[in-house]
Amino acid sequence: RRFHVAVVGATGAVGETMLSILAERDFPIASLSLLASSRSAGGEIDYRGEKIKVQDLADFDPKGVDIALFSAGGSVSKEYGPKFAAAGAVVIDNSSAFRYDDDVPLVVSEVNPDALKNRPRGIIANPNCSTMQMLVALAPLHRQYGITRINVATYQSVSGGGRSALEELGKQTGQLLSFQQIDPQRFPVQIAFNLIPHIDDFLENGFTKEEMKLVWETKKILGDDSILVNPTAVRVPVFYGHSEAVTIETRDKVTVAAARELLSRSPGVEVVDKHEAGGYPTPVTHASGNDAVYVGRIREDLSHPNGLNLWIVSDNIRKGAALNAVQLAELVAAEG
Ligand code: A2P
Repeated sequence: RRFHVAVVGATGAVGETMLSILAERDFPIASLSLLASSRSAGGEIDYRGEKIKVQDLADFDPKGVDIALFSAGGSVSKEYGPKFAAAGAVVIDNSSAFRYDDDVPLVVSEVNPDALKNRPRGIIANPNCSTMQMLVALAPLHRQYGITRINVATYQSVSGGGRSALEELGKQTGQLLSFQQIDPQRFPVQIAFNLIPHIDDFLENGFTKEEMKLVWETKKILGDDSILVNPTAVRVPVFYGHSEAVTIETRDKVTVAAARELLSRSPGVEVVDKHEAGGYPTPVTHASGNDAVYVGRIREDLSHPNGLNLWIVSDNIRKGAALNAVQLAELVAAEG
């Protein structure tokens, strides 16, 4: 069977990658509707050698769409997601609009694929990029050793902020290298040659929403409210690929050798952990443009008997967003 697929936000950083991943993985498409705002409606996008016109989401009739991949921001998802679902589509939503609703499954394809079968609203939520890559690596350890606590600091690339954020890093870098003034717009302060410990809005508890996504989503996806998560989320001047310095505490002791062995046979994970120059994953050398979640720098915590350190790197636009969304679409397609 072939499916009528709609991509909402097709002109964006994630939407564009969704299209290339649908093509790469030969997703069974009967027809493809590409949707964006009126700003880019009328333009054309190439899909497997065929030019497809971008349509204005506001005038689009979702009748007949089987699977809709949304990545156009939370407010667009809130307004149009339920309309597509009411018209009969399965909505796979990359925004945070529905992630914390009890009747919307939040699914990482390698971790909790069965959860997507229970979707009373016809909506499946795609997790936040940082949670996604962290759990691809940690879920196998959790199942075997019981993770009780996670300390995580993220090093998140600008592509997570969409096309305008990619452009701002490029522009500021050029301006600073030619001794010009910069004018931060997309980020609150200079991002080129800098680090910003602030992603998404500040909440009342002093954490940012990006940080709390790691807390809320980890509990929901692993189905375990007792896991303690202590996050710090930082934006770094990298174009593609998020990195995470993670320390876990486990009920049962995990040795480095056991962690390596388990992770090297876990789906979606690649262990890159040689104790030599370049023997560890980085956004540029490993993650960018690739599908895997890369894990390196595996060490026992010097300060805790049941602690383990890991360095987890992945392409936030691929596994962190577009790839997982397409993998969820494949699971839906396999239902028949
Ligand atoms: P557009 O090209 O018309 O602005 P990014 O995350 O890279 O910034 O991309 C956001 C995506 O969401 C783009 O495809 C953008 O389309 C789309 N988008 C933003 N706002 C709307 C809207 N109100 N209706 C439909 N699509 C939207």
